[in-house]
Amino acid sequence: MTSYLLRGVSLLGAAPTDVHIVDGRISDRSSDPEIIDAAGLVALPGLVDLHTHLREPGREDAETVETGSRSAALGGYTAVFAMANTSPVADTAGVVEQVWRLGREAGLVDVQPIGAVTVGLAGKQLAELGAMASSAAGVRIFSDDGHCVADPRLMRRALEYVKAFDGIIAQHAEEPRLTEGAQMHEGEVSTRLGLTGWPAVAEEAIIARDVLLAEHVGSRLHVCHVSTAGSVEVLRQAKARGVRVTAEVTPHHLLLTDELAASYDPVYKVNPPLRTASDVQALRDALVEGVIDIVATDHAPHAVEDKECEWAYARPGMVGLETALPVVLSVLGERWDLIAERMSRTPARIAGLTGHGTDLSVGSPANLTLVDPSARRVVDPAELASRSRNTPYAGTTLPGRIVATFLRGEPTVLDGKAVK
Ligand code: DOR
Ligand code: ZN
Repeated sequence: MTSYLLRGVSLLGAAPTDVHIVDGRISDRSSDPEIIDAAGLVALPGLVDLHTHLREPGREDAETVETGSRSAALGGYTAVFAMANTSPVADTAGVVEQVWRLGREAGLVDVQPIGAVTVGLAGKQLAELGAMASSAAGVRIFSDDGHCVADPRLMRRALEYVKAFDGIIAQHAEEPRLTEGAQMHEGEVSTRLGLTGWPAVAEEAIIARDVLLAEHVGSRLHVCHVSTAGSVEVLRQAKARGVRVTAEVTPHHLLLTDELAASYDPVYKVNPPLRTASDVQALRDALVEGVIDIVATDHAPHAVEDKECEWAYARPGMVGLETALPVVLSVLGERWDLIAERMSRTPARIAGLTGHGTDLSVGSPANLTLVDPSARRVVDPAELASRSRNTPYAGTTLPGRIVATFLRGEPTVLDGKAVK
């Protein structure tokens, strides 16, 4: 196994130092290493994404485990959690093991499957949570993401079930009766455009219900893609009471607003929808404060025919793995420790993922990424490693370039390019 010397690297913004990588771990020395000139580069623990759509099995035309893994590595990630809304749905031990195995074969990031909460994401019957948990994939997080577990009794039973193995239910908070036919955030812009609105309360009502259920049962709840100021207040109160709840925000909800829907360009269609500027500000504040624990991409690749069509027919979602860190850098600035906390350490801790999100001290597994904070990059969809092109940042200049990523001491990205 090759040893590496990262010469003059800055660990999370600290003074330049030399970091050695030997036998997959961070070391204080090495013999005959391959030298990487890391002057001006910042090392972060490899990013961990708790919310990625990889589309395999079923929609390999939009993404595969391999292309999504490559996209993740290029974005500085060393672990991603693959959502269950594939075809077939990841609601059995067989499907989660398939995804897990494909991830191992690609070998670019650790791919951890998320299991469905209900059979076929249909919201009627609990899936085989125990079988997925005890499978080779060792599933700990369950989600019907894309759909809300709307039935409160089913949600309660799911929370009770996973408590036995300290599992987590990750909820897509959307009261379906309040979002029938919805096309965008319900507000001034939707009124002006004459599009059916997705009201903030549809998210907030489910989060309020679910924190009460989680409190009642004593289980762990994770809230996917929080998008409104009101949701932040519900979470703040629940956390103050000691409810075991964690929450994520996406890069796009930290940067973009519902005004973009006025273009009628479906690249801006996403679920939950882009909200108002005051929601964006509340989400940023909550992320800094820790009321929102982590950034998760909700990387949602879609084939051209599902995006380049009329707004109403377009699928919701945006690719995000390759632009997440630059977007977060543009929002938070170079607060490296905060970025490491929200994009690596806390997601790893929530998921119980060992070896990722470390403090990069000597002896830690060498899961890390090197960022050039002084570089600026114009996003070109054609350059993305994802199989899909539906980025809302085409033509946008974003700060930061991911120069290298290491997974257990092996480079997956060097000079900004995927190694395999
Ligand atoms: O925008 C979204 N796209 N939101 C979801 O909840 C699902 C996702 C997808 O699977 O495309
Ligand atoms: Zn979702």
